[in-house]
Amino acid sequence: MKYLIDPIDLSVEQINQLIDLANDIIKDSTRYQEVCKHKILATLFFEPSTRTRLSFESAMLYLGGQVLGFSEANSSSSSKGETVSDTIRVVSSYCDIIAMRHPKEGAPLVASMKSQVPLINAGDGGHNHPTQTLTDLLTIKREKGRLDHLTIGFCGDLKFGRTVHSLLKALSRYEKVKFIFISPSELKIPEYLKNDLLDAKNLEYEEVERIEDVIDQLNIIYMTRVQKERFFNEQDYIRLKDTYILDLKKLENSKKDLIIMHPLPRVNEIATEIDDDPRAKYFDQVTNGKYMRMALIMTMLGLENEVERL
Ligand code: CP
Repeated sequence: MKYLIDPIDLSVEQINQLIDLANDIIKDSTRYQEVCKHKILATLFFEPSTRTRLSFESAMLYLGGQVLGFSEANSSSSSKGETVSDTIRVVSSYCDIIAMRHPKEGAPLVASMKSQVPLINAGDGGHNHPTQTLTDLLTIKREKGRLDHLTIGFCGDLKFGRTVHSLLKALSRYEKVKFIFISPSELKIPEYLKNDLLDAKNLEYEEVERIEDVIDQLNIIYMTRVQKERFFNEQDYIRLKDTYILDLKKLENSKKDLIIMHPLPRVNEIATEIDDDPRAKYFDQVTNGKYMRMALIMTMLGLENEVERL
């Protein structure tokens, strides 16, 4: 696999193989601790991150490899005007694989065309976040035992939230998945996803404004933060940022086996009183993210069969 830019770059079969490999790593990660010995991962983050960058770096270190990179554009020569294409040509001669985040949609795709080594999109603007999607799919599979026959509610900033866009695309390929979009009118799911994906594939979905009106139907509620960094106008952000705060009261009518997901970072969207509730899975997503990224790094380096599965 030369690059991963969009979750649909992966076939359903490849996703299943990654989930199987991640689950095997979870069973006993010590068996994988030398798989990437002498390999180097570069993390090029032109936009802030805690989970994605550090879980990629942690994943490579747990595989016995090494890491280099930068965590902000200002500490790289892009602050002097160097293009993404030139940066990638240079860095790809220093490493074996690259994970790159950029605020501009499409920047990792451009980079992948210049890279001499496999390149992973670690988030591009409001567009895609395929490794969060793989993490979310692993979490859903582990919690629900399936990726089909599910009703999932996406709640919050559905306009700018790249984790929603990516997970929606990935789940659209499974049987009988119903989508319920919960957002204020200003932050609705983009028209291109409705026209080119949901309507084109005749998928079942509805749009509502209140969590309470649909909570009893959901197998999964996927909360998201309002994406401050993508707003043009701060007043709009302040007006919309606390539209949804999920608390125990709003969960009163939920299914007993509902799971609550959030890609994090959280601002106010989920009250901390929910953190220890058995339905809360957002910190499990974080843990799963490291194992999924271990599986992905191995696979993209062609090392997925280095360890015999348990
Ligand atoms: N979920 C996620 O992408 O978090 P970070 O922005 O901290 O990487």
